[in-house]
Amino acid sequence: MDPSEFGTSTIPLQHAPYGPITAEALTNKNAGKVAVVTGAAQGIGAAIAEALTISGATVAILDLSVEKQQKTQEACEFHGGKIRAYACDVSNQDAVMKTFDEVEKDFGPIDILVNNAGVLVQRPLIMSDFDSFWKQIEVNFKGVRLLLNLYLFKTGAPKDVQEKYGSPKDEEYFKGLFKDPPILCGQTCAWLATGQGKDLRGLYIGEKRHLAVIIKFLTNV
Ligand SMILES: NC(=O)c1ccc[n+]([C@@H]2O[C@H](COP(=O)([O-])OP(=O)(O)OC[C@H]3O[C@@H](n4cnc5c(N)ncnc54)[C@H](O)[C@@H]3O)[C@@H](O)[C@H]2O)c1
Repeated sequence: MDPSEFGTSTIPLQHAPYGPITAEALTNKNAGKVAVVTGAAQGIGAAIAEALTISGATVAILDLSVEKQQKTQEACEFHGGKIRAYACDVSNQDAVMKTFDEVEKDFGPIDILVNNAGVLVQRPLIMSDFDSFWKQIEVNFKGVRLLLNLYLFKTGAPKDVQEKYGSPKDEEYFKGLFKDPPILCGQTCAWLATGQGKDLRGLYIGEKRHLAVIIKFLTNV
């Protein structure tokens, strides 16, 4: 496929510098919106929930238990935010579906999804075990996809995607995404396996610069 055939986003690019990201700058920017934040009991998820509250969103916080999220709930309520904690293991499909239904019943349709919940086992492979590795796949990959799928199908795909490819429930959507025949993927894989990746010819999408030139530049740095 010719890289010039790659579509470009219809969303206008914003080049203007934005101001500092402060709580004041966020105030009421998300008023009227409903947000779901996973893994909100602590760390980044808790901070996101609090920031979303300040920005005016109604926030549904999800973590393994409601009790674990009490501090986050209190911090959000301190800002006058509308918030509710839900116990939900994001890697459990039934739990995710049930929780989304509850959130919609409590607050209405979900506008914002923050897939933050995650586990990280920071141990070298030989010092780790398969169960802890698989736990990461379940939470970090399966969990994210579960929520994303449900969110997309509940809200409908963003307008931009729908306009370009049609409804994501439609077979034509997939055909539009994969214009190249599988044989090209197969040959590319086999060719890259020969170790000649550096000779790859083509345009670096967006940059319109030849990949070989970029590689030459990087290897000279
Ligand atoms: N902190 C970092 O430097 C860093 C760097 C890169 C990526 N991240 C990612 O950002 C996210 C947040 O990081 P953090 O440092 O705040 O993590 P954290 O470990 O402090 O918090 C993660 C939260 O996710 C929850 N969680 C775990 N499994 C869950 C499950 N199955 N269902 C629901 N909730 C679950 C935990 O209970 C916890 O409250 C994670 O996905 C992490 O992998 C963090």
